[in-house]
Formats: sequence, structure tokens, C-alpha cells
Amino acid sequence: MIAGKMPASMKFLIRTATMFPRSASSTSSCTSSSSISTGRGFRLLALLGAGATGMLGLSGLAYADEAEHGLQSPSYPWTHNGIFSSYDHTSIRRGHQVFKQVCAACHSMNLIAYRDLIGVAYTEDEVKEIAAEIEVQDGPNDEGEMFSRPGKPSDYFPAPYANEQAARFSNGGAYPPDLSLICKARHNGQNYVFALLTGYREPPAGVSVREGLYYNPYFPGGAIAMPKVINDGGIEFEDGTPASASQMAKDVVSFLTWAAEPEADERKLIGAKWIFVGCLLLFQVGHYKRWKWAPIKSRKLVLDVVN
Ligand code: HEC
Repeated sequence: MIAGKMPASMKFLIRTATMFPRSASSTSSCTSSSSISTGRGFRLLALLGAGATGMLGLSGLAYADEAEHGLQSPSYPWTHNGIFSSYDHTSIRRGHQVFKQVCAACHSMNLIAYRDLIGVAYTEDEVKEIAAEIEVQDGPNDEGEMFSRPGKPSDYFPAPYANEQAARFSNGGAYPPDLSLICKARHNGQNYVFALLTGYREPPAGVSVREGLYYNPYFPGGAIAMPKVINDGGIEFEDGTPASASQMAKDVVSFLTWAAEPEADERKLIGAKWIFVGCLLLFQVGHYKRWKWAPIKSRKLVLDVVN
């Protein structure tokens, strides 16, 4: 209607105006698609290049990894590994003996008190006896003096050195870390500590280790300031177990694993109970659902068309 009233020149203008956008869009889409395809090609090439460099870099890293972060320790079949398995408490008892007679010369374990061992590795009377072997500085007494007394079950394990400086001074500058949480503080904790304790060997050809350090491929860097302390027959187990190096290492790692996670046995027991109750509940919920849905599931809808 409007176009009918317009002069002829205007009509022409309108027609071209409606025609232009089409042709303009078709040409522009054509050019833009071609520019995208060349852009994509470049990006793909760039990605490929980056990927290839990354892969090459990673393979280099894997070699550097072993020397820098230490050899990956094997996975040992610990008897307490399963979800329903508890600690081997005779092993913890022997492990405490190894710790006391070997490791405690250099390492502290300041989160563990003697009383923690009651019911875990020793009876209460045994723990009282063991605690009484140490001297503890206590006080002040009524006269304001500090005094020493024999240890009690509530005392914590004594530290071998007065402070970090003294520990470093006696160990060639290296600090023997506190062992209370060592099995949690290291990647692959218990396997790593076992592999570390039993992994000492002669350095391979071409590798030289500085004076005062010892070659151990499991230790990051390969050279550790701790000497090989676990040797066959190093101690005599009170229960008569032959004290081979691997037996001692296994027992002390059991002890350290318990120390880092004393609640593990109880946690697994509670977990098992919850799973059991959960299974019962699941059965009841399933039954209840079927009972509630029975009328709906079993009804029959009939569409009766009258006409
Ligand atoms: C003669 C002293 C000495 C004795 C004994 C000793 N250690 Fe050590 N230990 C060290 C020193 C020193 C270091 C620090 C090493 C370093 O940083 O190079 C160390 C480090 C460690 C580490 C940590 C390694 C790491 O990844 O940082 C563990 C675990 C360890 N010792 C376990 C033990 C156990 C278990 C025993 C007993 C069987 C033991 N040590 C006995 C001196 C000792």
C-alpha cells in the first residue's frame, strides 16, 4: 500500500535496499569463513607444536623426576592395608623396640606419650616400667627448684637432642625429623619409609656422594645424611623373632604407621558397622518403596470410548 503511493525512484531505492543486505551478507560470510579456516589451520599447527614440545619436555622430566624426587617405592602387602584389617599388634610392639633401641638415638617422636601404648603394644604395668626407665625434669617443687624424677605413663617420648641446632650439629648439618607423623608426612608413607630403610646400596658408576652422605635411591636427590641403621641382627627381639633387616624395618614401619594414625583400627570397625547398618536400611527402603508404589504400579487404566 505504502509502496504504491511512492514515486517510482523511491520504489527502486527500496528494492535495492532489500537486495543489498543479502548480497553483502553472502560476500562477507564467504570472506570470513575463508579467514577462519586459515586461522584454524594455524591454531591447529600451533597446538600440535605445543603438544610435541610438551611431550618431549615431559619425557625429560620423567628422568629428572627419579633423581630429584627419588625412586618410586614399591607397594608392599601390609597386613593392615585392607578395609577390614587391623594393625598387627605384635609387630607394633617389636617396632617400638626397634624405635627405642635404634631410631630414638637421633629422632624424636614428641606427639606420642607412653600411655598411648597401653592396650596397643603393652599392658599398663609394662608401660609403667618402660616409662620409669627415663629421667624427666619436673618442677618447680615447693622450694622453687626443678628436680628430676623417673618417667610416668603420662610423659611424652624424650627427645634425643635439646634443640634443632644441637641435632644438626651432631648430624653433619642435617635435621633428623620428628617421626610421630612421618608416615603421613611423606608421599606413599609406609612404603617409602620401608624402602628408604632397606634401600641403601653402593652408588652406581658415575655417581659420587659427598663425604657424610649415603647413597639411597629412594631419598629425593639420592644422597641422605642418615647412615644405614637397620642391619641384620642389629637388635635382639624380646619375643625371639629373628631380627633380619627387613623384619626390623617392617616392624618399625608398622609402629610408625600406628603412631601416625592410632585411630585406624577403631575407624575401620565403626566403618564396618555403618556399612552393615546401611545395608539393612537399604533393604528396608527398597521394601518400603515397593509397598508404597504397589497400588500405582499394579493399577490398570482402561480408556472406555463411549461413542
Ligand atoms: C645416626 C642418627 C640416625 C638414626 C639412628 C636414625 N636416623 Fe633417620 N635420619 C637421620 C638424619 C640425619 C636424617 C635427615 C636426613 C637428610 O635430611 O638428609 C634422617 C631422616 C629420616 C627420615 C626422613 C627421610 C625424608 O624423607 O626426609 C626417616 C623416615 C627416618 N630418618 C627414619 C628413621 C628410622 C625409622 C630410624 C630407625 C630405624 C632412623 N631414622 C634412625 C638420622 C638418623
